[in-house]
Amino acid sequence: MSTSPAVVTVTGAAGSIGYAALFRVAAGAMLGHHQPVALRLLELPQTIAATEGTAMELEDGAFPLLTSIDITDDPHRAFDGANYGLLIGAKPRSKGMERADLLAANSDIFAKQGAVINEVAAQDIRVIVVGNPANTNAAVAAANAPDVPAERFTALTRLDHNRALAQLARHTGTPVAEITRISVWGNHSASQYPDIFHARVGNRSGAEFAEDRDWLVNDFIPTVAKRGTAIIEARGASSAASAANGAIDHVHDWVLGSPADDWTSAALPSPGIYGVPEGLVCSFPVRAVGGRWQIVEGLDINEFSRQRIDASVAELQAELDAVSALSDR
Ligand code: NAD
Ligand code: LMR
Repeated sequence: MSTSPAVVTVTGAAGSIGYAALFRVAAGAMLGHHQPVALRLLELPQTIAATEGTAMELEDGAFPLLTSIDITDDPHRAFDGANYGLLIGAKPRSKGMERADLLAANSDIFAKQGAVINEVAAQDIRVIVVGNPANTNAAVAAANAPDVPAERFTALTRLDHNRALAQLARHTGTPVAEITRISVWGNHSASQYPDIFHARVGNRSGAEFAEDRDWLVNDFIPTVAKRGTAIIEARGASSAASAANGAIDHVHDWVLGSPADDWTSAALPSPGIYGVPEGLVCSFPVRAVGGRWQIVEGLDINEFSRQRIDASVAELQAELDAVSALSDR
């Protein structure tokens, strides 16, 4: 790990997720407690004043690892030499909307930012897209950055993974720390498929719990997949601190490695495995080794899982087709 500062660009820095993420990034929760960080905060012109307030608070944290804070509404300045891009800035959905309804409003942001990243970011740039619909926005950004390896454009499904862990822990009375090998497949949407067939739950197998099909189909899967909606209904605003936490977990593991003997979930451009067409940004079970994501290969996918993965992949394909004008590389 280098001791020169890592340049971390956070878009939507004055928004709810940005506010929840920035202090933890500055404290070393994302890149480790020995890695200095230079923050670049990108916002819209009308929210620069609010971003300045957030920067004052960051300063007041006196974080030893935080070497500088730059605020700008210019994407070129924000991404110049950036090593990490947390692409959060986008419109959130409100009650009654699906995430795909945001495609028209948000995809253009990611086409433009992908092109700027291609032009000015550091060679080792790693991107996580949080702004919804996250998978397809990541595909759009990657398509507009032809000189950056597509695998560096990822989208957040670690939040869904963490939700699945928590729900399985609650149902089985097992501590989260004793549950491993959950997988979230597909889209960060209601069609996502949290898969427990390969999980280990203490000294039992997830498949054992999956035998209770009524619980699996009518409780576990919809609770995880519709958790974002439940939070919007309860809070009147979409998840923020848990989303920031998922994004930090994602980048942390990508850079510093995922725990041995476990895996996590991340949305990555498909290399064409598990029946997911190449180029769709799809959530897979993954390990992080040497700063790269590796999809866990060779898992036995039963008919129950196959149908659900296929349904989510079909939705991803439809989303990508809807923005083909922005994503034809
Ligand atoms: P928010 O409205 O609180 O903040 C969004 C911020 O982005 C605003 O400050 C806005 O000014 C800024 N912004 C908009 N366009 C921008 C641009 N082109 N460049 C820079 N900044 C820009 O919203 P939020 O709650 O922080 O959510 C942000 C996004 O994250 C939404 O799309 C939301 O749906 C999504 N989200 C995704 C997940 C996930 O798991 N993938 C989870 C939660 C929320
Ligand atoms: C979530 O899953 O909480 C976010 O994607 C916000 C949303 O729109 O549901």
